[in-house]
Amino acid sequence: MSSYTVFGMTPAPEPQIDQSLWNPHGSNLVVKGDNLEFIRTLPDGSFRLIYIDPPFNTGKVQSRQTMNNVRSTTGTRVGFKGMTYDTIKGVAYGYNDEFEDYWNFLEPRLEEAWRLLADDGTLYLHLDYREVHYAKILLDALFGRDSFLNEIIWVYDYGARSKKKWPAKHDNILVYVKNPASYFFNSAEVDREPYMAPGLVTPEKIALGKLPTDVWWHTIVSPNGREKTGYPTQKPLGILRRIIQASSERGDWVLDFFAGSGVAGAAAQELGRRFVLVDQNPEAIKVMQKRFGAGKLDSEVRFEQLIPSDPELKAEVAEPEKSNVVAE
Ligand SMILES: C[S@@+](CC[C@H](N)C(=O)[O-])C[C@H]1O[C@@H](n2cnc3c(N)ncnc32)[C@H](O)[C@@H]1O
Repeated sequence: MSSYTVFGMTPAPEPQIDQSLWNPHGSNLVVKGDNLEFIRTLPDGSFRLIYIDPPFNTGKVQSRQTMNNVRSTTGTRVGFKGMTYDTIKGVAYGYNDEFEDYWNFLEPRLEEAWRLLADDGTLYLHLDYREVHYAKILLDALFGRDSFLNEIIWVYDYGARSKKKWPAKHDNILVYVKNPASYFFNSAEVDREPYMAPGLVTPEKIALGKLPTDVWWHTIVSPNGREKTGYPTQKPLGILRRIIQASSERGDWVLDFFAGSGVAGAAAQELGRRFVLVDQNPEAIKVMQKRFGAGKLDSEVRFEQLIPSDPELKAEVAEPEKSNVVAE
């Protein structure tokens, strides 16, 4: 049994749980808590699009140290017009990405994703080379092989290049539809790409651009760019925009229950969709509060906390939060 409370308020008495926090006629929602416990409370067939980017099981703690440049007459970094800056260490964000039994963790969540998809809905599962092959076998069994639509390869070019093997510079996004006979896919809405050999096509085609294939070249979130939130493994808005354009319409609900920095919500909002985001990490919630907080979006976003059914975890939630994250 689960219950919820709005951030900053005393936990409410345990409610009779026939209700989910989410209301399809209500506002966008960000939930802090274990995703499995929360998504089990959502009604069948509620989402046309589910995007999830679970931890990749890298066996490490994923962390990022943000850096801010601050103007200072004694600073050692020299910038535009000779101005000098000090580089100050900012917030350090992190989450654990080491699992003893990764598939025992992911499988029940993928089963829930299947249940939550609308009949014309689509799941995008974002992984990398470590787990994608096991995921394909599992999703074939769960959805049916006919429901496999694509494996999108997102290619980027960043970071060191191993000299001992081919440097891995791509992620894998598996795409499964609930019903292969009636799924929603709108290629007309998808952003187009420039032709590689424009000399071979007409000016009209050059102006229109070409439809992307299942291989997407896209930079990672730039460490100095405006999009950067400082959250580790933050995915680019451009990747999420394309997914949302193709597999949902304006007004649809998009669910991301491994939300991290909330990139799926940010892209959904830009494109006139509504969103439900879940993450158990207080640091992810802080980043999303900053991203979607008062006045940041046109539409309202509610932040809620799942009160876990496990008594020990419930006691932890009741404790005032100790976090090393401060607003920048
Ligand atoms: C790879 S990151 C997601 C990054 C996100 N797509 C972005 O672009 O910022 C995975 C996230 O899953 C969260 N997570 C892991 N296990 C979870 C669980 N059981 N319930 C809720 N969130 C979980 C982690 O806290 C982490 O933020």
